[in-house]
Amino acid sequence: MMETVHVGLGARAYDIQIGPGLLGQAGALIAPLLKRPQVRVVTDENVAALHLETLRAGLKAEGIEMEALVLPAGEATKSWPHFERTVEWLLAEKVERRDIVVAFGGGVIGDLTGFAAAVLRRGVRFVQIPTSLLAQVDSSVGGKTGINAPQGKNLIGAFHQPAMVLADTEVLGTLTARDFLAGYGEVVKYGLLGDAAFFDWLEAQGPALAAGDMAARIQAVKRSCEMKAEIVARDETEQGDRALLNLGHTFCHALESATGYGDRLLHGEGVAIGCALAFELSARLGLCAQEEPSRVRAHLAEMGMKVDLKDIEGDLPDAEGLLDLMAQDKKVVDGQLRFILARGIGAAYVTADVPRDVVKALLEEALAARG
Ligand code: GLY
Repeated sequence: MMETVHVGLGARAYDIQIGPGLLGQAGALIAPLLKRPQVRVVTDENVAALHLETLRAGLKAEGIEMEALVLPAGEATKSWPHFERTVEWLLAEKVERRDIVVAFGGGVIGDLTGFAAAVLRRGVRFVQIPTSLLAQVDSSVGGKTGINAPQGKNLIGAFHQPAMVLADTEVLGTLTARDFLAGYGEVVKYGLLGDAAFFDWLEAQGPALAAGDMAARIQAVKRSCEMKAEIVARDETEQGDRALLNLGHTFCHALESATGYGDRLLHGEGVAIGCALAFELSARLGLCAQEEPSRVRAHLAEMGMKVDLKDIEGDLPDAEGLLDLMAQDKKVVDGQLRFILARGIGAAYVTADVPRDVVKALLEEALAARG
């Protein structure tokens, strides 16, 4: 049942292995990368409680010894203090240039550990073992690593590609329904940005996939990774096309910032709402028919996901306030905000040519609908 997606980056190329039960096979899969039979693993308390012993057994089956650093779960871990602790632990464990560090967890652990690996001894190799759907289809692939700064999310970091990604789709069975659906927001994003047939497939298979259909889960992770791999191979350091992966993210980042990057709005939920808003904006600008945003919304609603600003509980800033937050986006170039718009489902493109008053009117209406 294992599928492989290759990320074609020349000397930094690697494979993403996708399938159920990969934790148990981790030793056999990682062994070819090792110069000595040991790895150091960074994880969080939640993942450790559920899956660390399975990983340990999978490594031990091939005679690979493992020590783990278990960090607190949550976004606050993606910060200088935990970064310092991680780097110092890896040094205390005498991790060498030729060793492998394993990032075992969701996006927070993957980003933090990847960044620690990027700077440790000026760069050691690392393997991503993503345990959330969001990390399997997005953050573990493509080499973006980093931590948050007091000034904003992901402002400190480096591009450092993993040596391998192991996406065990069985592990997804331990996610809460809310976390699973948040990750699904990123899956839908791939269909919307560049593959209309994949979106058609998700409309048909999404409910089965959410209910636990393993073949559908593998296919969804595989197609998402293929699309990301293809874009990253074209534009590793986001000089152009890689920004397509940020469909929905300009709105999402403003909403996450307004809601405090926490439980009120998970990142993937913000991406889903952001994608619906980006399609609505595209229709208003005459780029696509109104049926397109309606179809996006209908699918998100059918999946039981957050679709609109009215699905976010509590206060939100007014339209001007949200526009101000959008202006903090990393995609701002020369003070000009860039959006990912679409000429239809599967046909997104990057542009700076978006009249501010159209965005403002859209946000005002979406806020008014909150009652
Ligand atoms: N998550 C967007 C990217 O990797 O470029």
